[in-house]
Amino acid sequence: MLWLARFSGFASAAMIMVILAPSLQSFPFPPAEAIRSSHFDPQRRFLETALLDSSFHLGGFPLGFTFKRAPEFKNAAPRKCSSGRFSATLVCDPSLVHVAITLDFEYLRGSMAAIHSVLRHASCPEDVFFHFLVSDLAPELETLVRSTFPLLKFKVYFFDPNRVKKLISSSVRSALEQPLNYARNYMAEMLEPCVSRVIYLDSDLVLVDDISKLWATDLGYSTVGAPEYCHANFSKYFTAGFWTEKRFSRVFRGRKPCYFNTGVMVVDLQKWRRFDYTKKIEDWMEIQRRFRIYELGSLPPFLLVFAGKVKAIEHRWNQHGLGGDNVNGSCRDLHVGPVSLLHWSGSGKPWLRLDSAQPCPLDSLWAPYDLYYSAASA
Ligand SMILES: *[C@@H]1O[C@H](CO)[C@@H](O)[C@H](O)[C@H]1NC(C)=O
Ligand SMILES: *[C@@H]1O[C@H](CO)[C@@H](O)[C@H](O)[C@H]1NC(C)=O
Repeated sequence: MLWLARFSGFASAAMIMVILAPSLQSFPFPPAEAIRSSHFDPQRRFLETALLDSSFHLGGFPLGFTFKRAPEFKNAAPRKCSSGRFSATLVCDPSLVHVAITLDFEYLRGSMAAIHSVLRHASCPEDVFFHFLVSDLAPELETLVRSTFPLLKFKVYFFDPNRVKKLISSSVRSALEQPLNYARNYMAEMLEPCVSRVIYLDSDLVLVDDISKLWATDLGYSTVGAPEYCHANFSKYFTAGFWTEKRFSRVFRGRKPCYFNTGVMVVDLQKWRRFDYTKKIEDWMEIQRRFRIYELGSLPPFLLVFAGKVKAIEHRWNQHGLGGDNVNGSCRDLHVGPVSLLHWSGSGKPWLRLDSAQPCPLDSLWAPYDLYYSAASA
């Protein structure tokens, strides 16, 4: 129920604080807009203090971020895993599986479920290293991840939203304009240089299969691997003006571009660095700002640079669209075929729908990974 409130990150956290801590209910609560636009924010200071204050605990769980401690996942065949052969914290250990995911308040519940799902199904959970891309409250989020997943190998990276703010133009859904959505374009420079491959995962998905299978993807000459959807009408991802303007549309000459979803990508970071794809994507965002060549957020520049060049991965690794469309978030069914990953892309999110007691049938597949602890469900 709390997560129904789709305010800005701070507002959501503030809601939790206010509702779960009756003594705080008199705390003045500015509208979400005010929180978003102010630089110095006394409310934020209050939250930071309160979240770290050990007196705000309920049943052993930190009250501000009420997440249960995840069970410790043991793999079936520990001797096949590499953990222990190298220093546990060494990010450059070549046997690690690297996963990048964003952490912010609005999607925190989703991110935690995603991490949980990766660990639960990994044959070697101790070999998975998480790279968290964070734009705000990095120390608090680090503490939270540590307490929820005590044995997790991870590093938190600060993604400066100012890096992209000037480049972002409005899109059909305001959630698509969040700077953190664009962090996936900066992994090559943010992550440790020794990390040569990473799996990028959105925050609104769960894996139901061993991530090491996805990690083993042969990218061939490609920089990005992702499931392709060649029957989708590719032209609708760009405006009519884009297609008539030859200097833009010629980018697809000699390519057979197909839609792919950027929520699940296997990325060769070495090739990315070598060809500076970050700059190529930024160049398209600059063109978008001036000529408006598409309506969606961070996806189209990826299509412009990579569509028709990605290594096609089995569709089972991104059963996307479960959140419904960008307007109504209506219920969707799975695509035909096997399932290794369920993705609630679109405007409906399973935690919001479950809390509203109007879930879609497939939302029940997300629920087992939910680590959110609410006083009501306790
Ligand atoms: C694809 O979409 C474009 C633009 O929306 C439309 O003009 C075209 O007719 C569509 N093509 C097909 C085969 O549906
Ligand atoms: C959303 O729902 C409204 C009202 O039920 C309907 O009129 C509209 O066509 C729907 N939009 C989409 C994109 O499905």
